Amino acid sequence: MKIPTSIFALMSFLACTLVLAFPAPAASQTQNVCIQCHGSLEGRLGKPVQQWQGSIHEQDGVTCNECHGGDPKDAVNAMSPARGFIGVPEEKDIPGICGRCHIGVNRDYLASAHGKALGKGGPSCVTCHGNHAINRASLALINERSCSRCHSYERAGELKDAMVKTETLITTMEDKIDTIRKGGTDTEPLEKALFSARNQFHTLFHDVDVKKVQNESARINRDLGKIDASLEAILKKLHERRIAGAIAVGSALLAALILYLLRKTYEKN
Ligand code: HEC
Ligand code: HEC
Ligand code: HEC
Ligand code: HEC
Ligand code: HEC
Repeated sequence: MKIPTSIFALMSFLACTLVLAFPAPAASQTQNVCIQCHGSLEGRLGKPVQQWQGSIHEQDGVTCNECHGGDPKDAVNAMSPARGFIGVPEEKDIPGICGRCHIGVNRDYLASAHGKALGKGGPSCVTCHGNHAINRASLALINERSCSRCHSYERAGELKDAMVKTETLITTMEDKIDTIRKGGTDTEPLEKALFSARNQFHTLFHDVDVKKVQNESARINRDLGKIDASLEAILKKLHERRIAGAIAVGSALLAALILYLLRKTYEKN
């Protein structure tokens, strides 16, 4: 005899409320019936909870229902289509689900060779990021194991090389700014400008356009290179113990320069 799903679901829920009565997890999770119930289930139904725990989405309160729909406050009707439950999303719907929050990334992805090949052998968001154990993204995601599943690694490698160069430059500049700050100068405008340079640089990837990434990276490197030279000059002055006031003015000018160069770079797109 087949037990109706809702009764089975209710029984599992009662069982897991008992289990969860002690040790109490974080408040938001106790109130979410998806996590309570699935946390007590075995196999493919329980694994998502373990994988999701510790993910960047858990840290930011992006819970099961944000991607699967449904009602996280009502154990009996949690998975009712009437409450917006969609079950396991089909591959073609995944970018749209992630894209509700990651709007810019989704736009770039859809316009890219990968997005255009969705459903025809191209990767979806979860191919590269995973579905439940999603962590902070970095260039480490571009690697031979992941990127040669469908095509040769060659273009992926070219793309990564260009991006790593810029990333390294930004990191060394951050270190220099840090030293200048410790020398007693207000570097906040400079830090902010570099932070926005970094953010704009990190939007390059999802286009997977090798030429564009190489050109943009080279241009950012050239522009940042000029600022880096000025940082070197400030550092030298700092070593010579010149007055902090002059350095503060220099640092504000550099911040303005970064912003100006960025605007110039991105207005061309
Ligand atoms: C009381 C227990 C219980 C609650 C509450 C619950 N689930 Fe489930 N869920 C199950 C069981 C049991 C299954 C497998 C049987 C089925 O598909 O109905 C399942 C299946 C699923 C599946 C896989 C469906 C498939 O087609 O393979 C997803 C996704 C899912 N649940 C997400 C959620 C989300 C999101 C919530 C909260 C809005 C939720 N569940 C609440 C018990 C629960
Ligand atoms: C960021 C979006 C997202 C969140 C948050 C999320 N899921 Fe999923 N889940 C997916 C996607 C996408 C799939 C489809 C799997 C695939 O194609 O990789 C999936 C698949 C599943 C499946 C089917 C697994 C299988 O092997 O058949 C279950 C069950 C499930 N999720 C439950 C949950 C539960 C419970 C939570 C909360 C702890 C949760 N999910 C949170 C996106 C999400
Ligand atoms: C081919 C693999 C791949 C696919 C497909 C992919 N990503 Fe990414 N994603 C990456 C890599 C690699 C990075 C890191 C880029 C970097 O550090 O500059 C990244 C970065 C990100 C970031 C961080 C962006 C930032 O500004 O720092 C988010 C969010 C993200 N991806 C979401 C998505 C979503 C949503 C989709 C689907 C619409 C998707 N990704 C599709 C590989 C992929
Ligand atoms: C309800 C909104 C929401 C949905 C839906 C969602 N995310 Fe997120 N995602 C977030 C938030 C909030 C963060 C944390 C942002 C931060 O701290 O930078 C995040 C972070 C990420 C990151 C790390 C970003 C970084 O800066 O490195 C990746 C990668 C990511 N999500 C991918 C996905 C994928 C893939 C999906 C779909 C399967 C998805 N997200 C669905 C809200 C969402
Ligand atoms: C699930 C399969 C799949 C995976 C995994 C995958 N790709 Fe692709 N990729 C494709 C398809 C399909 C195309 C379009 C056809 C082609 O150009 O080969 C493509 C094209 C590309 C292109 C050429 C884009 C253009 O406009 O010419 C680059 C670059 C690329 N992928 C980089 C990557 C990187 C980097 C990764 C790993 C982070 C990756 N790919 C992982 C399927 C995949």
